[in-house]
Amino acid sequence: MPRYVLALDQGTTSSRAILFDRQGQVFACAQQEFPQHFPQPGWVEHDALDIWNSQLACARQVLAGSGVPASQVAAIGIANQRETTVVWDRASGDPVARAIVWQDRRTAGACDRLREAGHARQISRSTGLELDAYFSATKLQWLLDNVPGARARAERGELCFGTIDSWLAFKLCGRHVTDVSNASRTMLYNIHTMRWDPFLLDLFGVPAAMLPEVVRSSDRVGMAMEEWFGRPIPLSGIAGDQQAATFGQACYDKGMVKNTYGTGCFMLMHAGYVPPVSRNRLLATIGWKIDGRTDYLLEGSVFMGGATVQWLRDGLGIIKESSEVEALATSVPDSGGVMLVPAFVGLGAPHWDPYARGTIVGMTRGTTAAHVARAAVEAIAYQSAELLAAMQKDAACPVMEVRADGGAARNDLLMQFQADLLGVPVVRPLVTETTALGAAYLAGLAEGFWASREEIGALWKVERRFEPEMASDLRAALRARWARAVEHAKGWAEH
Ligand code: G3P
Repeated sequence: MPRYVLALDQGTTSSRAILFDRQGQVFACAQQEFPQHFPQPGWVEHDALDIWNSQLACARQVLAGSGVPASQVAAIGIANQRETTVVWDRASGDPVARAIVWQDRRTAGACDRLREAGHARQISRSTGLELDAYFSATKLQWLLDNVPGARARAERGELCFGTIDSWLAFKLCGRHVTDVSNASRTMLYNIHTMRWDPFLLDLFGVPAAMLPEVVRSSDRVGMAMEEWFGRPIPLSGIAGDQQAATFGQACYDKGMVKNTYGTGCFMLMHAGYVPPVSRNRLLATIGWKIDGRTDYLLEGSVFMGGATVQWLRDGLGIIKESSEVEALATSVPDSGGVMLVPAFVGLGAPHWDPYARGTIVGMTRGTTAAHVARAAVEAIAYQSAELLAAMQKDAACPVMEVRADGGAARNDLLMQFQADLLGVPVVRPLVTETTALGAAYLAGLAEGFWASREEIGALWKVERRFEPEMASDLRAALRARWARAVEHAKGWAEH
C-alpha cells in the first residue's frame, strides 16, 4: 500500500512539492523560486517552461531527498496559482509567448470598453466574477490579438489555452484538461450550466478548439508519464490554490471561512451547493466538484498580501529576509499613524480599481522604517477585514471564526491584529500548508487513500487561536481611517 500523496503547489513566486502521509502531515517538502518578468509598468509575466521545469525539479527532489520511491506515491494532486494564462503549441508542447500572470493589468482598458458596452452584468451573471483584468479571458484575448498568427492557429486547433493546472497536466500526462475550480476563474465558464459559455467565447473571440476539457476536482485524469518519476503515478486531483486551501482547511459546511496569506490574500467562505450571488462585490466561484456534487464559494481577493513584505525587502530594502519583518514591526508599539495601502497592482475586492496605486499616508518627521514595516503588516489585515465585512453582509449566517494559512499566517503580530480588526477569532491550524494539503486530499480521495471528507475533517487540528482583544470603538476608528487611506490610492494610474 502506498504511504504518501504528492502535492504540487505551483504558486505565483515559487513551485513547491510536498509529500503528505495518511495523517495529513508533511513528510517532506521541496521548493524553488522562479523568475518574474515585469516588462512594463503593470505587466507581470512568467515563462511557462520555468514553471514546468521548477515544478518537475521540486517533485523529483522531494522524492529523491526523502528516499521515497514512486511506488510509495498513491497519487499526485495539483494546486495552482489561478487565472494565469498560458497558450502553447499542441504538437510541440512549447508556449507561444510568456504566460500573462493574474496580477497583470495590461487589459484594464479592454475591461473598461466591455463595461462601457454594457457587458459587465451579463458576465457577472454567467461567471460569478467581476469584470476585471484579473481573470483569464482578456489576457487570452490579448495573446490571440498580439502573438502573430495565434488566432488562425488556435482556430485550426493547433494551439491550446490553459491555466497553470492545465499546463502542468498537459506536461505530466499529455492530456489537455482543467478542473471546474480553475475553469470558473477564466471568465469563459458558466458556473450555472457548468460549460464553456458560447456567448463569452464569442465576446472575447476565443476559438472553442483551444479550450481544455473540464474535469472534476477529485478524479483520475491520467497517469504522469514514466519518464518523469521512473514509473507512472496517477494524477487524481486538481484545484485552484485558493479552493484547494479551503478544502485543506476542512471548510465543508456553509458559512465556514478561511483566509490564505500568500502573495495575495484570499478569503473564501463555503456558500453551499448553488452559485451564490454577492451584493457586495465579492466573487461567486466553484470550490470543487467531487462525484456529482459541486460546492460553491464566495471569495474576496486582495492582490497584495505577503507580497507587500517582499516589497519591503526587494523594493524598499528595509529588511533582508521576509522573516525579519515581525521583529522590525514589533519594535514599535504601533504604526505611529502611518498607513500603507499596497495597491501596487490596483485594488481587488471589494474596490475593483485597476488604476489604484500604492501609497503611504500619515508620515511625520518621527516616522521610521519600523513604522512603515508595521503599517505594511497591518495593511494585510486591514484589506482582509474589508473582505470579511463584505462577506458578513452577503451571508445570512454569522461567521464564527476565520481559519488562517499561508506563509504570513506564521506572523503572530499579524494574526493578533487580524483578530482584533475582525472582532472574530482567527484560528491557525497545526498544518499551515493547507493549499498543498487540499490538493493531496482531493487526489487521495479519488484513489481511496482517504475514505471520505469526514475522515479528512477529523485530521484538521488547531495550533493556536487568536481571540479579538481590541475595544470596539478603537476598531471602528482604525477601520474608518483605513477607508480614508484607501481613497488616496484610488484612480492614481493613467487610464
Ligand atoms: O488568484 C491568484 C491566486 O491563485 C494566487 O495565489 O498563492 O500564488 O498567491 P498565490
